[in-house]
Amino acid sequence: MGAIAAAAGSAVGLGNIWRFPYIVGEDGGAAFLLLYVFFTIVISIPVLMTEFSLGRMTGQPVTSAFKTLCPGGKWQAIGILGVLTAFLIMSYYNIVSGWTLYYSVASVGGWLEGLSEDQIRQFFINISTDSVSCVVWLILILAATAFIVAKGVSGGIERYSKILMPLLFLLIIVMLVRSVTLSGAAEGLTFYLKPDFSKITPKTVFDALGQSFFSLSIGMGTMTTYGAYIQRTQSLSGLAMRVAAVDFLVAFLAGAVIFPCVFAFGINPGQGQGLVFVTLPNIFNMMPLGRLFSVAFFSLLVVAALTSSISLLEVVVAYIKTSFNMGRRKATVIASALTLLFGVACAFSPTFFYIVDNATANIMMPLGAFFIVIFAGWILPTQKIFDELSIHGTRFKLFRAFCFILRYVVPIVILIIFANGLYCWLA
Ligand code: PFF
Repeated sequence: MGAIAAAAGSAVGLGNIWRFPYIVGEDGGAAFLLLYVFFTIVISIPVLMTEFSLGRMTGQPVTSAFKTLCPGGKWQAIGILGVLTAFLIMSYYNIVSGWTLYYSVASVGGWLEGLSEDQIRQFFINISTDSVSCVVWLILILAATAFIVAKGVSGGIERYSKILMPLLFLLIIVMLVRSVTLSGAAEGLTFYLKPDFSKITPKTVFDALGQSFFSLSIGMGTMTTYGAYIQRTQSLSGLAMRVAAVDFLVAFLAGAVIFPCVFAFGINPGQGQGLVFVTLPNIFNMMPLGRLFSVAFFSLLVVAALTSSISLLEVVVAYIKTSFNMGRRKATVIASALTLLFGVACAFSPTFFYIVDNATANIMMPLGAFFIVIFAGWILPTQKIFDELSIHGTRFKLFRAFCFILRYVVPIVILIIFANGLYCWLA
């Protein structure tokens, strides 16, 4: 159960509740959603299964997994790319966690209560442009994450999150009921659920693949590390599908809460990274016991963010520990200090923040996934993956289809999307 909870804890986080809605809003709604679902089923689930397999096969975290499977080879670079990606993601991810923490404190203080839509927008602008405050909240979050990782007690928070995450889920359902019954909600649901295919552009496709990877924490070895802890009796395909289903459900419901409210209040859906923070307080203000719900929601979101940032920091710490032969505590301090440095850069430069957010999800993670599937599909003996995916001598029935996807579909789709993106960028 530990490995499953940890994998789900890594997957479900700000990517589902903060990033997904803002990207859907920027990319025009339902058509993006369809693309996202398509990529998750056809590309991301097979990549997740592959990462789990590589981890369990070697029993090691990502950088050493490739070293073991291909000694002396260049494939270890995949692990290093993953470490770099984790490091860059952390630098802005923790800022958003910091905003979330600030919103839970603000909810306790009732500072958002009774504010108009305009005032709520201003509230977010004030915090997100106050770089010094952003750094202070970032330090608090980073310190909590580092403490948990340094002590090696992430199992503790995973145990809590097994109770707290279903609670967050229930809360989202309650918010959904309020949101879809707002007057003007129908327009939001149409935006979210009725596809307008003319909205599909190369950017939409690029974003959909990147979001799918980001949300499932794949393409950088995080899930390879968790794979090492999954018991042999567990079916990796079943597990990958369950993690993907839970992850999708949370993101989908978050969108279903946000967009009716966005349209009911005349908020611009394409406004970017602040979308969730300028929208949700309006819902709480229209709910009985709204303040209480607001406190609970933002606090639980902090926990969801923490379990994800723990998994990010773990990737970097594991690498520093093994490469420089260092103790866990020292490695954590170094990794956190470096993260803080980049975090400060993100806090002071929204452009840097935006670039890191997009480059990690849309370029670095698909690139990592590309090399992972090339390695697993073309370099590693097929039998090895087959053995991992089959349990108790029961053959994994879809193995041929899986191999085809791994060898051809995933790499070709990633290449086409990259080439298309590059073409549009240069044009
Ligand atoms: N999947 C996380 C989320 O949706 O919030 C973000 C993430 C965590 C990405 C860990 C990558 C990772 F290694």
